[in-house]
Amino acid sequence: MSKFSKDFVFGTATSSYQIEGGYDQGGRSLSIWDTFSETPGKVWNDDHGQVACDHFNRYKEDIQLIKELGVGSYRFSIAWPRIFPEQGVYNEEGMDFYRSIIQELIKQGIKPVVTLYHWDLPMWAYNKGGWVNRESVDWFLEFAEVCFRELDPYVESWITHNEPWCASFLSYHMGHHAPGHRNIEEGVKAAHHILLSHGKAVELLKKDLGSKTPIGITLNLTPVYAPTTSTNDKIAINNADGYTNRWFLDPLFKGAYPMDMMNLFSSYIHDYSFIHEGDLATISVECDFFGINYYNRSLVEFAGSEKFLFTDAHSDYDKTGMGWDVSPQEFKELIYRLRMEYTKLPIFITENGSAYDDVLEEDGSVHDKERTAYMEKHIQAVCELENEGMNIAGYYLWSLLDNFEWAFGYEKRFGIFYVDFNTQQRYWKDSAKRYKEIVANRSVQKQAVK
Ligand code: FCB
Repeated sequence: MSKFSKDFVFGTATSSYQIEGGYDQGGRSLSIWDTFSETPGKVWNDDHGQVACDHFNRYKEDIQLIKELGVGSYRFSIAWPRIFPEQGVYNEEGMDFYRSIIQELIKQGIKPVVTLYHWDLPMWAYNKGGWVNRESVDWFLEFAEVCFRELDPYVESWITHNEPWCASFLSYHMGHHAPGHRNIEEGVKAAHHILLSHGKAVELLKKDLGSKTPIGITLNLTPVYAPTTSTNDKIAINNADGYTNRWFLDPLFKGAYPMDMMNLFSSYIHDYSFIHEGDLATISVECDFFGINYYNRSLVEFAGSEKFLFTDAHSDYDKTGMGWDVSPQEFKELIYRLRMEYTKLPIFITENGSAYDDVLEEDGSVHDKERTAYMEKHIQAVCELENEGMNIAGYYLWSLLDNFEWAFGYEKRFGIFYVDFNTQQRYWKDSAKRYKEIVANRSVQKQAVK
């Protein structure tokens, strides 16, 4: 049986900084991504998101595309510096923008799924220490509270944070994302405060505001493999998995950081007193669903010279334009593991998709065969998982539009709609046409009866 159940949700996803532009419109102040992309050499081609897809001015047309796709839901995020351009200064005009998006979605029969934080931290917050400062939890809660108060009746579900690993380790330890720091202690503190702000936001919505709207968090999860079964490679797998997955899964679902990783980090972090009593109980507060962004597996091998004893190994899998392994089978294995070890909550695949080098033909078509194949394989995997009773509740394709792909600027195109960034014209790629068919048939099988 390879059909999706009737309640299964299909959607597409975007995020504020990647598509909105309008960086100085509507009372918005700057975020860490504005500043990071202004720093030469941080982003490919020194690209930035000042205009991006100009979604700020074109959201109605974009929602029309979502409607034509036929999906039931749209996941987007709120730019914090539009809502609080300065600390404690609420900007009604910023909220109006999101109210308009939500109204338009509802008018078109599309359910809004809202992410509060998809990485555009206001500069004012960064200047006070950003996520490394525990006060960031209070700043985030003030932001979350006005979003809840203003929008909750119209929102289908809330996602507190998108990929805390990226917002902390990738940004404060590895330095690839804004703010570009390279300090493990900062990375771990940022992760802790992000997770804590998640738990507190869930409590705020459910307990203090008494809302019944489902709320959860989205993690990026990467199942880790190694080329051999040697003891050394097992250590590599363990540590890579700890760094990428368990450091976030364990506090959320088990109420504790993984001890092996705490020990491993302790050469660099001598003092864990930033973890206060009660924090882990808050972080592990019960949610209504669990969001997963899945793109690829990772292959690592033992490396004695590396801090955490692992490094990337050579993989002979087919690759996307990001150089990421196309690995739908490992995606299924990841879900089996989550079901065994972590959670029974409904799972939403809140992002999945691929970048490839697209060619816009003269007649406006884009024959993106590889993206279409990637999409079909992963949706097929989701369908099998759903049919196996794995309780997968929905799938959001990343992304609706080609957009500002963070440190890769506009070089990498993840959209199912091609965007010509000179004219801002949108074009249907073949993958969008195929997705429309899959959504309509509720099956990847071509011969499926409607
Ligand atoms: C995820 C991000 C998303 C996008 C995709 C390709 O890590 O959540 O914004 O960049 O990767």
